[in-house]
Amino acid sequence: MMDPFGRSITYLRVSVTDRCDFRCVYCMAEDMTFLPKRDLLSLEELDRLASCFVEKGVKRLRLTGGEPLVRKNIMHLIRSLSRHLESGALEELTLTTNGSQLARFAPELADCGVRRLNVSLDTLDPDKFRQITRWGELDKVMAGIRAAQAAGIGIKLNAVALKGFNDGEIPSMIEWAHGEGIDLTLIETMPMGEIDEDRTDQYLPLTQVRADLAERWTLRDIPYKTGGPARYVEVAETGGRLGFITPMSHNFCESCNRVRITCTGTLFMCLGQEDAADLRAPLRASEGNELLSNAIDEAIGRKPKGHDFVIDRATRKPSVSRHMSVTGG
Ligand code: GTP
Ligand code: 5AD
Ligand code: SF4
Repeated sequence: MMDPFGRSITYLRVSVTDRCDFRCVYCMAEDMTFLPKRDLLSLEELDRLASCFVEKGVKRLRLTGGEPLVRKNIMHLIRSLSRHLESGALEELTLTTNGSQLARFAPELADCGVRRLNVSLDTLDPDKFRQITRWGELDKVMAGIRAAQAAGIGIKLNAVALKGFNDGEIPSMIEWAHGEGIDLTLIETMPMGEIDEDRTDQYLPLTQVRADLAERWTLRDIPYKTGGPARYVEVAETGGRLGFITPMSHNFCESCNRVRITCTGTLFMCLGQEDAADLRAPLRASEGNELLSNAIDEAIGRKPKGHDFVIDRATRKPSVSRHMSVTGG
């Protein structure tokens, strides 16, 4: 699959549920109304949809949410999709998770060929963790991370850099993660469907964070790539990898390789744009994949050049009204 800007689409993110057992303040309101279960694609339909993308050239598949591990019987889907790893059609099958259920799922995930997991963790302070997730227990996430490592799964932590919340903690998070053999990626907060309060003032440019870190440590650019937007450095003193995801201060859209589908079968061609295509109708219209495949081609044919995110201090309005939880990032 090739988009109008010559970018090859080889990476699919599938949000398997809009539900989550946490309510991170920047992601979900405390009293969320979730989709009625009847609106969700079944696990079989998600499998068919994802497998159609694999047939069309997708090499990496990432399940997201909400929280993917709260979807009932999720391991059935993961086990089934792992057949594409065995056949060699797929190079990577992975998840972005909040880690709360990982202790239970890690061994089976490893058995299904999951080699790497991204875990969202914005702080190492249990009180602050409870505050940002509204009720999450840091201990459970830590137990999940340990279980995944014990099962041989590599961990990357995602921390959204938030001014006044975790900026003072970034060096200690790096030291801890690297001491545990874990990669850490810092993310600039993206102006998507704001929850509760306006977060404009929490935006922290990572160019600034990087400059501050460079006064303390030696940061060496390295060619390590996961196929995603993160640009990595090695911290010479810790020997660990630190990634920067900088949609606001540095765009990475020219090398974008990805599209995302929601748990209701909507295809978003860009995280930072509203345009979408319905794949549920063509999926359900026939048992064959011809209509579906045509609908996918038509949508990829209008993938935009890049996102339209701007931090607008005048209007203080998010650029994209959709919440991050709809596509899981
Ligand atoms: P790997 O590179 O495979 O480790 O994954 P990733 O970093 O792309 O995925 P992850 O789910 O860990 O997402 C980390 C952050 O990157 C989240 O905040 C995502 O919203 C963001 N992200 C991932 N893909 C894109 C993208 O195409 N555009 C933008 N703007 N942000 C993205
Ligand atoms: N901006 C940037 N990253 C975000 N995430 C959730 N909301 C935002 C936002 N507004 C991150 C989560 C998770 C990843 C999938 O997206 O922390 O790690
Ligand atoms: Fe759940 Fe992740 Fe959203 Fe937090 S950021 S509420 S863990 S989906």
